[in-house]
Amino acid sequence: MVAAVTQTKYEVKDLALAPQGKQRIEWAAREMPVIKQIRERFAQEKPLAGIRLVACCHVTTETANLAITLQAGGADALLIASNPLSTQDDVAACLVAEYGIPVYAIKGEDNETYHRHVQIALDHKPNIIIDDGSDVVATLIQERQDQLSDIIGTTEETTTGIVRLQAMFKDGVLTFPAMNVNDAETKHFFDNRYGTGQSTLDGIIRATNVLLAGKTVVVAGYGWCGKGVAMRARGLGSSVIVTEINPVRAIEAAMDGFRVMPMSEAASQGDLFVTVTGNKHVIRPEHFEAMKDGAMVCNSGHFDIEIDLKSLGAKATEVKEVRNFTQQYQMPNGKSIVVLGEGRLVNLAAAEGHPSAVMDMSFANQALACEYLVKNKDSLQPGLHSIPTEVDQEIAALKLAAMGIKIDTLTSEQIEYINSWTVGT
Ligand code: ADE
Repeated sequence: MVAAVTQTKYEVKDLALAPQGKQRIEWAAREMPVIKQIRERFAQEKPLAGIRLVACCHVTTETANLAITLQAGGADALLIASNPLSTQDDVAACLVAEYGIPVYAIKGEDNETYHRHVQIALDHKPNIIIDDGSDVVATLIQERQDQLSDIIGTTEETTTGIVRLQAMFKDGVLTFPAMNVNDAETKHFFDNRYGTGQSTLDGIIRATNVLLAGKTVVVAGYGWCGKGVAMRARGLGSSVIVTEINPVRAIEAAMDGFRVMPMSEAASQGDLFVTVTGNKHVIRPEHFEAMKDGAMVCNSGHFDIEIDLKSLGAKATEVKEVRNFTQQYQMPNGKSIVVLGEGRLVNLAAAEGHPSAVMDMSFANQALACEYLVKNKDSLQPGLHSIPTEVDQEIAALKLAAMGIKIDTLTSEQIEYINSWTVGT
């Protein structure tokens, strides 16, 4: 469908980029067979007809495939960026020019523009909010109480957003259902681990072109994202140190064969530091002080708060851009520290985010979570809800089929055994 651009309000970098965006969106679609099947069904059944929907996501080729699917399902969808540096401008242009989807996203937009776009998204008077980090929901609750009656629910993409939603629920302000997409097995086992693992190293390599073999890589945080980054850094020949605050995860990292130590010890050993904790100031002035000359730091957690860049900037005698997305901070002690992607998600700032094949499952969860919210709007209680196991299993089955992998099924004897408790030794 080609919609008239004049009817679509938007803020994108340049509509002339649309043809390139279209080619790249179609390329991504080749690796997204699950979302394709959902799109075909949505086009027939229109489960989102009449639904005003806002998606606050990284504006990538994969998100475009989700947006087109939601539109096929009948949604009146509007898209904004979930991070100032993650937008792919050609994709934003194509969604406006080819699909008539209003998009407000420009790579490199400042914080003020970012927040203005959140307000524009809320002006769309959404019934459903697809959030990645929970900024739209947090703004709705704090500033648009009068719109709460329009809301059917939200679907949340990322760990950081889930943590915020839990805090909102604890404070009694989350008064509508929130679908926990992040915790679906077909989401975090693959997107958080293999997606973050590959795309983080992709971002580091595109930004710096450094050889990772032989380097010491310090990974802060051993959640699913940290596991992926550590695993892939080891695969490229790096010696990997993990830092953690959770004792169980620290044991896991040690038993996975990584060295585990506090950041205060790791700081002087690392050549490259990657933060994936979801928490604030994981790398602080005392750590910068101890680092080797030329040490590189970057972040793959949702917000740009993990590295204390303010303190680093305040101490630096000079900051210069040495390559795209690569800034060198000259320190008074004669050493330099290199910061990638301004401390924002390096995989999206310097590369293209997670590969399409994993986003296929993440966004299948998003699309089906929206449908679930609409179908169950009269019975769902406020608060966080898991993606139903049947939906998770269905996505996994579709993905396996698309990958050409067959698996076993239980025999009737096995079903009987697994359901009985009387047979022991
Ligand atoms: N988050 C991480 N990678 C992404 C991608 N490729 N598209 C949308 N959101 C993402």
